[in-house]
Amino acid sequence: MSAPQPLVVTHPLAQIHLTVMRKEDTPSAQFRWHLQRLAEILFTVASRSLETQEVSIRTPLAEMQGQTFARPIVLVPILRAGLGLADAILPLVPEATVAHIGIARCEETAKPKPYYAKLPALLSRSDVFVLDPMLATGGSACAAISQLKAAGANRLNFISVVSSPQGLEAMHEKHPDVPIVTAAIDDGLNDRAYIVPGLGDAGDRCFGT
Ligand code: PRP
Ligand code: URA
Repeated sequence: MSAPQPLVVTHPLAQIHLTVMRKEDTPSAQFRWHLQRLAEILFTVASRSLETQEVSIRTPLAEMQGQTFARPIVLVPILRAGLGLADAILPLVPEATVAHIGIARCEETAKPKPYYAKLPALLSRSDVFVLDPMLATGGSACAAISQLKAAGANRLNFISVVSSPQGLEAMHEKHPDVPIVTAAIDDGLNDRAYIVPGLGDAGDRCFGT
């Protein structure tokens, strides 16, 4: 079976939020606000095929069948910038568990350095959403997903804001089973492995560092 193509969310609302985020003079508070609105849209799309199961409920007038999630949901922000996505998505699925994976990209080599992980026991029976605004070389996302698979996760999704062709290729090679939802596929990487045109350093822009 061939890997699914990344799903690029071209909805005008998504693209307008992304445009504000990309502008170099957008201050952190505004950057965060637009990131969060965009995260709501991306998660709504990424969760479109989640399995549900029927549940019997009673309205004030009658009995009926409603829907509930078939499996627990786990959100996994990659620290730090993924936190900006998780903050907006958690209110949409308040019963979700939040796992954290800390990965810092080495400034010189752009290689991922994992430094923290706090993962729940229910990973193997959950729908897992890995969150990171930037898919550049793909090193961080691939490392996080490998870590989650090693811990038992087997229904994974990846949500990013801006992706590079190189990052998508890396994901396609290492984790072809993981569907990707993104707001943009940019031109490529510069000599420091930053996405061009991109939006700069998402963590720094989100947290004002
Ligand atoms: C950034 C970004 C991704 C990673 C993407 O994080 O949030 O995690 O780089 O690059 P890659 O695809 O080449 O791995 P960074 O390591 O700078 O940490 P931060 O979120 O703390 O700023
Ligand atoms: N990390 C970011 O935050 N931005 C990039 O363009 C690449 C890696």
